[in-house]
Amino acid sequence: MYIGVDLGTSSVKVSLVTAEGQIVASNTQEYPLYSPHPGFSEQRPEDWLDKTLLALKALSELTSLSDVRAMSFSGQMHGLVCLDEADNVIRPAILWNDQRTQKETDYLNQVVGVKKLVEYTANRAVTGFTAPKILWVKNNEPQNFERIAKIMLPKDYLAYMLTGTFATDVSDAGGTLLFDVKNRAWSKQMLEIVGLPESALPKVYESSCVIGTVKEKFCRLTGLNENVKVVIGGGDQAVGAVGTGTVGEGGASISLGTSGVIFVASETFKEDKEGLLHNFCHADGRYHFMGVTLSAAASYGWITDLLGVDVASLESEVAAAPIDDVVFTPYLTGERSPINAPTVKGSFYGLTAQTKRANLARAVMEGVAFSLKDCLSVMNSVGIKPKKARVIGGGSRSKAWVQILADVLDLEICKINTSDGGALGAAILAMVGDGVYACVDDACKAIVKDVESVLPDRERAEKYRKKFEIYKKLQEFSLKLIK
Ligand code: XUL
Repeated sequence: MYIGVDLGTSSVKVSLVTAEGQIVASNTQEYPLYSPHPGFSEQRPEDWLDKTLLALKALSELTSLSDVRAMSFSGQMHGLVCLDEADNVIRPAILWNDQRTQKETDYLNQVVGVKKLVEYTANRAVTGFTAPKILWVKNNEPQNFERIAKIMLPKDYLAYMLTGTFATDVSDAGGTLLFDVKNRAWSKQMLEIVGLPESALPKVYESSCVIGTVKEKFCRLTGLNENVKVVIGGGDQAVGAVGTGTVGEGGASISLGTSGVIFVASETFKEDKEGLLHNFCHADGRYHFMGVTLSAAASYGWITDLLGVDVASLESEVAAAPIDDVVFTPYLTGERSPINAPTVKGSFYGLTAQTKRANLARAVMEGVAFSLKDCLSVMNSVGIKPKKARVIGGGSRSKAWVQILADVLDLEICKINTSDGGALGAAILAMVGDGVYACVDDACKAIVKDVESVLPDRERAEKYRKKFEIYKKLQEFSLKLIK
């Protein structure tokens, strides 16, 4: 048996998984998110540990954990955890969705410059990344900055507390903007820029590496045996991709959750000179590109709420609606990739007296697909061309939306035999660390399978190619308005 720990933003989910990838039991425990000022988003790392232990204990009351061989993690990315010399948490963790670092992000992109950042780390700065957060603490809480002995990412705090090993993995390290992604090592230049010595950063491992065993006191509490291997795991996007089998050259997945993510795996490092997308190490031992559209299912939830209609009853109307002139830009909460514009606003264009609610709803689905296509175009331009993509997340329950994705992206879209994402991906890394499978690719091939395929329609794909040009014009205009 294996354990996958999915350390999310609202809760931690701990799953017990067989070596064949079957989820035997899961337990989820929630923790609070604090927002002491508008735009601030913080959590107590101590809550993550307490609730993970509680979830393990709850699982052990259902079924014995004594034959668990290894465990691993999928963690919310980019969060800053700071410990002092005595391993006390200095301040609450500053999370991935915290927006306080605009000044520090502008400093990094404009004064250090995107060109240098891409040279050092393969990425540009965005407000959520860890390096701007360190600069914020340095600028605003110098007394806390002085006390920093160790910094780490959320799942690394769990691993450190459970094992005593100060470690991180390549996939999560990439999201700090302190990491030389190409060479899979901390960037000396970036450490100098933020003013921390390398000794304050964890040792970096590949995501399926064993870093230790669980401390005796926690074994006693949870019924785990003292030989359970702890595998470091990775950031939630890379580990989620392992859980969908998105590994190896051109493996792709699309997540239609609150936000939308297009994730494409790459055999070799490729440079995106402008740093328009996230360019990180993958948990399969290689690299990946990722584009994030901030409001995907969130945009669809917004329009259905506004129209006062439930999602299911609109589905057949949307499927029957024609591809018309109504275009939507899904920038309801600004946009991340590829335009990196936190203050850009969303819009509808092309309305007439004949526009009906189904036309608006369909345009919203198309707008999200256009935003993902925009990211895919950047990937294509650096030479990554997926042949098909696996779709996951709440939005993938809509047949109409999946067909729109296939037609807009002009790509085969597949549904898979599992929706367990992060926890399954973490368990797969634990299995690889334990030697059940020789590598992440082999484990994914054995466990994750396509169950349904949706093909693009030539005629509709051509119509969408033209409509995408209007989307790009609308995007250009929206960006001009915020300059
Ligand atoms: C990735 C990202 C999110 C967070 C929280 O760049 O911001 O996936 O890791 O889930």
